[in-house]
Amino acid sequence: MTFLGVDIGTSGVKALLIDPDGKPLGEASAAAVEPVRPQPGWSEQNPADWWTAMLGAIDKLGHTHPAELAGVKAIGLSGHMHGAVLLDRDDQVLRPCILWNDGRSAAECLELEQALPNLREIAGNIAMPGFTAPKIAWVRKHEPEVFGRIAKVLLPKAYVRLLLTGEHVEDMSDAAGTLWLDVARRDWSDELLAVTGLTRQHMPRLVEGSAVSAQLKPEFAARWGMNGPVLVAGGAGDNAGAACGIGAIRPGEGFVSLGTSGVLFVSNDRFQPNTQGAVHAFCHAVPDTWHQMGVILSATDSLNWLSRVTGQQPAALAGAAQANFSGPGEAIFLPYLSGERTPHNNAAARGAFVGLSQSTEPAQLAQAVMEGVSFAMRDCQRVLADAGTRINRLLAVGGGSRSRLWLTMLATNLDMEISLPEDGDFGGALGAARLALCAAQDADPQAVMTMPPIQTVIAPDKSLSGAYADQYARYRALYPAIEEARQ
Ligand code: XUL
Repeated sequence: MTFLGVDIGTSGVKALLIDPDGKPLGEASAAAVEPVRPQPGWSEQNPADWWTAMLGAIDKLGHTHPAELAGVKAIGLSGHMHGAVLLDRDDQVLRPCILWNDGRSAAECLELEQALPNLREIAGNIAMPGFTAPKIAWVRKHEPEVFGRIAKVLLPKAYVRLLLTGEHVEDMSDAAGTLWLDVARRDWSDELLAVTGLTRQHMPRLVEGSAVSAQLKPEFAARWGMNGPVLVAGGAGDNAGAACGIGAIRPGEGFVSLGTSGVLFVSNDRFQPNTQGAVHAFCHAVPDTWHQMGVILSATDSLNWLSRVTGQQPAALAGAAQANFSGPGEAIFLPYLSGERTPHNNAAARGAFVGLSQSTEPAQLAQAVMEGVSFAMRDCQRVLADAGTRINRLLAVGGGSRSRLWLTMLATNLDMEISLPEDGDFGGALGAARLALCAAQDADPQAVMTMPPIQTVIAPDKSLSGAYADQYARYRALYPAIEEARQ
């Protein structure tokens, strides 16, 4: 008996098999077509691309681990959050999905907050362009013929679930990122839906992430040699999914993620909103649990950008930064390439390099990018602390955590030890597989969501703390100055 976790990311899909003890048995991944940016600040992807990548990843497991794949009893899904998949009456996709890092709907955010003054209270969050509801408000205004044909709005992984099972279902952690959920009550809010001209009819059914959501269609069970019935768990938004994978479901347990986006995540035993500083307050993927997070929009995506403009691979840039490192550099980077959520809530913000000289080489630019992202995470920690939240334990996840230098910068700036898990970077896939195990066996999430074995613990480099405190102060002073200069 095995369980399968599938993580649908913006850059690709990862599929992971685990045994009943939660031990990873095999993984496979497939790249997705990169998002397109039809205008600056916009970001869209075709839902069919996730589906193709997902089939590709699971089919690969069918070649490398046929027996283990055939043994699957339940599947869990995790996915990038907030994206709006608009479906017509026949479940046909009406337009490309507007993604989590799309900033076009800033005007609609203001309009929604004006139309419903207690929006932040119910949703637990500021209306930010990354969330789903403002995107629909944008479509309603700019593409009324599309809006008029909407029968259902699904998040990315719920769309994949629809194709796998034929059912419209969403889990609480992902649903919380729509701005249509009453996050304290874990139910759709009629009031929040009404301000965007929608009703519960447009929403999928809600389940907890660790509960059964639907059954896999027999045609897919046959394709992968599984003996049905195969259950599909509620699953999780990718951040709650990653938290389940590293065992962060108890208060104060958290992670720092260096993925396309950057996230400082912490679990809470109650709904703990604090909209100051653009802290996100969402449901967790297990019952009676919530979480907060600070989210920055361009973490490894900043290094990817530098890679595109320099023609050097991100890993080579990070390696060059490490080889040349001798303390905080002269250049400072603001990572607001796609605007920013935490702490500025400003979709129109843009990135900057400051302090360049004739001797600045790509290695120094890479160091500045890694430092800028670390400062942005330090901003997240600051506003979480303002919200009264303490983080007791931090694990590192995401592709950027392969860089030791980047982790040391983070540990030093957050002034906290950061633990690096032994096994590869499973993202939300391990959490999703664990949620599948819970759903199929009715297991207690507290027993299943344990901390994985730790490869190493990265301590703050105290010799750099003072210099980074100074550099961080300079970094913070730059945002208002650059915003003023742009206006
Ligand atoms: C969280 C967010 C991102 C995406 C990335 O609010 O927008 O972390 O989930 O996949």
